[in-house]
Amino acid sequence: MNERLRLGVNIDHVATIRNARGGDHPDPARAAEIVAQAGGDGITVHLREDRRHIRDHDLERVQAATGLPLNLEMATTDEMVEIALRHAPHAACIVPEKREERTTEGGLDAAGLHNQLAPIVARLSDAGVRVSLFIEPDPRQVEAAMKLGAPVVELHTGEYAHAFDHPGQPEQLAYELKRITDMAALAAKNGIEPHAGHGLTYDNVQPIAAIPQLAELNIGHYLIGEAIFTGLEASVRRMRTLMDEAR
Ligand code: PXP
Repeated sequence: MNERLRLGVNIDHVATIRNARGGDHPDPARAAEIVAQAGGDGITVHLREDRRHIRDHDLERVQAATGLPLNLEMATTDEMVEIALRHAPHAACIVPEKREERTTEGGLDAAGLHNQLAPIVARLSDAGVRVSLFIEPDPRQVEAAMKLGAPVVELHTGEYAHAFDHPGQPEQLAYELKRITDMAALAAKNGIEPHAGHGLTYDNVQPIAAIPQLAELNIGHYLIGEAIFTGLEASVRRMRTLMDEAR
């Protein structure tokens, strides 16, 4: 078992809030610093084709803000491959991307896309970038990752999280958890480091965190949302103090 399960924090939605006003605040680089201070093990960002959250200029700033490894989530476009090669993040997690989706809805079809993925995995690996494939917890996909020589797979926990939210179907939850457990074991047995992520929350994280082969979880939306509640009191108090001091 890995001694410590690494936590990669996805800070995309700090940029989503910033972009809503078009200015510089809140700054994802400052969020990265807080993640580092709080014991996070890595920073994850997804540079999307439409740049709806993280933007190109953020990459360098976020990368420089801490000594933590940067995990760049990216689609398989030529543009993203060039950007990944230019920035050489610690890791690149290849994800499927649909323009109209709200978030990454499913895993990459690593089996069906072998010929498209093979040169990308090779180019990134040659540049020293640790390639991860974001896949469904399915044996076909783990085997495809093995054929592609990917050192890491990230198992999509979205279906598990969905089943967790529907407690009326406990057999579905058990099925989803078993798929992730089995695929983490299959990947590890074949020399691939398994990670997991998507839709993880305080409530549903522990059964996943208990899977012994998993080395890393990547968590974003819930943590940024939760930060509003744990941080709002302090920010309102500070504003109250500043206003009171001015009188
Ligand atoms: N891992 C991958 C590959 C993702 O695409 C995402 C969402 O961007 C996450 C993890 C984090 O998911 P969430 O924001 O639901 O925690």
